[in-house]
Amino acid sequence: MSVFASSSCFLQSQHKCIVIFALVCCCAVLIALIFSAVDVWGDDEDDIVEEKCSSTCRVVLVENIPEDLSITYKDTVSLAAGLRELLEQAHRSVEIASPWWALNSTEYESKPPQAKQGQILLQKLMSLQSRSISLRVVSGLTNSSELKVLAQNGADVHYLNMTALTKGQLNSSFWVVDRKHMYIGSAGMDWRSLSTMKELGVIIYNCSCLVLDLHRIFSLYWQLQYKEFLPSIWSKKLNALNNRDENLQLHLNDTKAQAYISSSPDVFCPKKRTKDLEAINKVIQEAETFIYISVTNYLPLLNRSQPRYWSRIDNMLREALILKKSIKVHLLISCWEQTEPLTVNFLWSLKTLCAESESCSVEVKFFIPQKQSNGYLYGINHNRYMVTDRAVYLGNLNWVGNEFVYNAGVGVVISQQVEQNNSTLVEQMKAVFERDWHSHYSKTLQPNKIPACGVHTVKERPASSDSL
Ligand SMILES: *[C@@H]1O[C@H](CO)[C@@H](O)[C@H](O)[C@H]1NC(C)=O
Ligand SMILES: *[C@@H]1O[C@H](CO)[C@@H](O)[C@H](O)[C@H]1NC(C)=O
Ligand SMILES: *[C@@H]1O[C@H](CO)[C@@H](O)[C@H](O)[C@H]1NC(C)=O
Ligand SMILES: *[C@@H]1O[C@H](CO)[C@@H](O)[C@H](O)[C@H]1NC(C)=O
Ligand SMILES: *[C@@H]1O[C@H](CO)[C@@H](O)[C@H](O)[C@H]1NC(C)=O
Ligand SMILES: *[C@@H]1O[C@H](CO)[C@@H](O)[C@H](O)[C@H]1NC(C)=O
Ligand SMILES: *[C@@H]1O[C@H](CO)[C@@H](O)[C@H](O)[C@H]1NC(C)=O
Ligand SMILES: *[C@@H]1O[C@H](CO)[C@@H](O)[C@H](O)[C@H]1NC(C)=O
Ligand SMILES: *[C@@H]1O[C@H](CO)[C@@H](O)[C@H](O)[C@H]1NC(C)=O
Repeated sequence: MSVFASSSCFLQSQHKCIVIFALVCCCAVLIALIFSAVDVWGDDEDDIVEEKCSSTCRVVLVENIPEDLSITYKDTVSLAAGLRELLEQAHRSVEIASPWWALNSTEYESKPPQAKQGQILLQKLMSLQSRSISLRVVSGLTNSSELKVLAQNGADVHYLNMTALTKGQLNSSFWVVDRKHMYIGSAGMDWRSLSTMKELGVIIYNCSCLVLDLHRIFSLYWQLQYKEFLPSIWSKKLNALNNRDENLQLHLNDTKAQAYISSSPDVFCPKKRTKDLEAINKVIQEAETFIYISVTNYLPLLNRSQPRYWSRIDNMLREALILKKSIKVHLLISCWEQTEPLTVNFLWSLKTLCAESESCSVEVKFFIPQKQSNGYLYGINHNRYMVTDRAVYLGNLNWVGNEFVYNAGVGVVISQQVEQNNSTLVEQMKAVFERDWHSHYSKTLQPNKIPACGVHTVKERPASSDSL
């Protein structure tokens, strides 16, 4: 436009020239104003576009099971090995969102020997630069020494001021590799997640169609660096590609599946993005025979200045129990120092709903970690998933009001036809749940008894005692 303006200056009088310049200036200001409303830009998806993305994917269930627990991997891969393999596959970029960065623990003297898995992973992340692979990290941590070390080794770190944006925390935990492989799970970048905690996640390879959508969530975080306000309009490039009404059709290990990514909190969901709670609701509504839930905490409370009853998930379960013809709900909750005693009352209340009922049943068990002689708790069940006869939901957040309302997290929903031969991800997760449910670390909730979750056994209990 300015070229046109200046060339016309040769032909036109000075007056006209000034008018044209004024017009050009007005246009520029107008354009600037329009684009400043669209505060947050999407990332360039350059060579991978939706039309030619890949949806013929491989899926691997990854778990961390502390060595001291007598629980075996069930067609699952160790988390540490899975993440290392994922890094091996990287050629161009690795993008990570994690609530913590504590792979190289210096906190304790008597670290368990498995703590070195975290150091190995940190070394691998630090050496990405020498392989000409870019590492990008989003974090809510202001002063993490580990992120400083990574930044010195070429990582690009963006800080999200979650306090200003949502009054919450960044609890998202996922990886995007080359925009075609991904990890989502309960484990963050913490040495304990690779040693003493019980974690579960999923790694999906060669799946750019799904991973592009997860990458859009990463881009959203990335653009919010140092922002103290959320934009009123999000860029179109951050809109969800798939959601609960429009699942992505894909193949996981040669089996047909439908999938989509969900996100929290609500204000982090641009147009078409399914919220975690909507995803959980859909999975519960579509279940026909069973709903198995394994989470660290279950607490239908919002606790800010004062506690308030937060009924969203509790209501979904109650509705399912009352309205479905025949439904079985199993809840596996962690019992440890941070378990809020009211948890038991809420769970008991759910259980009571099916008392004497033929059409529904609720069973609750507590997964109790073991305390070693060195003082470590082994096997805190950090899982955050739900599996039904139709689908799985695997997320980052605890099933507690505060988490879904204020904190950032993502989830993935995968639905599959049951093949009856344990070959699908849904069946595999069901098998994992049943393994934990029947392990001798899981104790049944007893009537009118509040288990003492802060107190732990030093030695393993005999397998026969199945109560608290
Ligand atoms: C959420 O993330 C913060 C740090 O960002 C961490 O302190 C907190 O424990 C996390 N909460 C959960 C439930 O993972
Ligand atoms: C990890 O911690 C040890 C001390 O425990 C320290 O010597 C080392 O430099 C740390 N490594 C990194 C990469 O920060
Ligand atoms: C940041 O961490 C370093 C040690 O890792 C500490 O010395 C320093 O005081 C911290 N700064 C702030 C602002 O917390
Ligand atoms: C985050 O935002 C809050 C509130 O706006 C502000 O007080 C705080 O200084 C910010 N933190 C950082 C590290 O920028
Ligand atoms: C992903 O696809 C590439 C090329 O088609 C193949 O070489 C690789 O083995 C695949 N990865 C996995 C984990 O299946
Ligand atoms: C609510 O939070 C306060 C501190 O923030 C804590 O002392 C209290 O136990 C919490 N109550 C519940 C029911 O979680
Ligand atoms: C599938 O797994 C379950 C639980 O591990 C087992 O009981 C069942 O026999 C398996 N079915 C087949 C067909 O392998
Ligand atoms: C499982 O069963 C389906 C159909 O019933 C079949 O196509 C598939 O190959 C089987 N998978 C395995 C691993 O046996
Ligand atoms: C998918 O295939 C991989 C090997 O290619 C295997 O490790 C993994 O367990 C399979 N996943 C499922 C859910 O069967």
